[in-house]
Amino acid sequence: MADLSVKVAGVAFKNPVIPASGAFGFGREYEKMYPLSTLGGISVKGMTLNPQDGNPPPRVAETPSGMLNSVGLQNPGIDYFIAHELPNLAQKGTTIIANVAGHTIEDCVTIAEKLEGTAVDMIELNISCPNVRQGGAAFGVSCDAAGAITKAVRGATTKPLMVKLSPNVTSITDIAKAVEAEGADAVSLINTLLGMRINIENRRPILKRNVGGLSGPAVFPVAVRMVWQVANAVSIPVVGMGGIASGRDAIEMMMAGASAVQVGAAIFADPYAPIHIIEEMNSWLDEHQIASVRDIVGSVQPW
Ligand code: SIN
Repeated sequence: MADLSVKVAGVAFKNPVIPASGAFGFGREYEKMYPLSTLGGISVKGMTLNPQDGNPPPRVAETPSGMLNSVGLQNPGIDYFIAHELPNLAQKGTTIIANVAGHTIEDCVTIAEKLEGTAVDMIELNISCPNVRQGGAAFGVSCDAAGAITKAVRGATTKPLMVKLSPNVTSITDIAKAVEAEGADAVSLINTLLGMRINIENRRPILKRNVGGLSGPAVFPVAVRMVWQVANAVSIPVVGMGGIASGRDAIEMMMAGASAVQVGAAIFADPYAPIHIIEEMNSWLDEHQIASVRDIVGSVQPW
């Protein structure tokens, strides 16, 4: 049995597989299926200062090898999370990442302050949600805005701070360098790629909000490319996500430079996907006589 444990910005994960924000809620549905302690960690649904209902339906559409979503950050708000979800999660024996998604810099600062002193192990600052009018990806598409929000949240928390990046930018490495310069301890990428589908019978977009975020196996090669580029551009750790659906995908993402991985869309097709991925990674490492998963991080040898 290989050593699957990893550290990201000083935070320990018993294995590198983390359900991605938005794909796992707060773990309630999944804890009935398997012990959450099996997972490396959990990134909880993106939380805003106040509760939100999200966007009107339809807000999910199937695509070849993927899905489009325009959920719009439906969540119960940070106070509800701290009072009602965190106490349950904190007993589960896994690492807890709080995904923070305010509409303004002030929102994000307030949320970070509220999380100080709680059982949350790490903050993932979401500057990349493409489905909201205010905030979200607007913070993540310019170096100045990404740097400013990172600086403000850095000043509001002593918790390790990871910033979740958008792929819908000209240069993701520039954004990564901007958040690193303002105190981010890690970056996670990629959030969804902006996409659109049209019902050709009524000539209406399938999603009520017209456009949404594409995830699933279709985006995997884009994610591997961006993780590789970012890992070579910054000194802080990178957590890779985007279309990971198997242990081999996770190994590939780590070879590109990811210190850990998040699994999103695959969970909608198979709620046990993270468990299968952990098992497959372990088997692959054993077959290749690699003692620690840490040995494969960034091990790709470019031509
Ligand atoms: C959503 O709730 O719209 C998805 C979250 C995200 O893309 O960050």
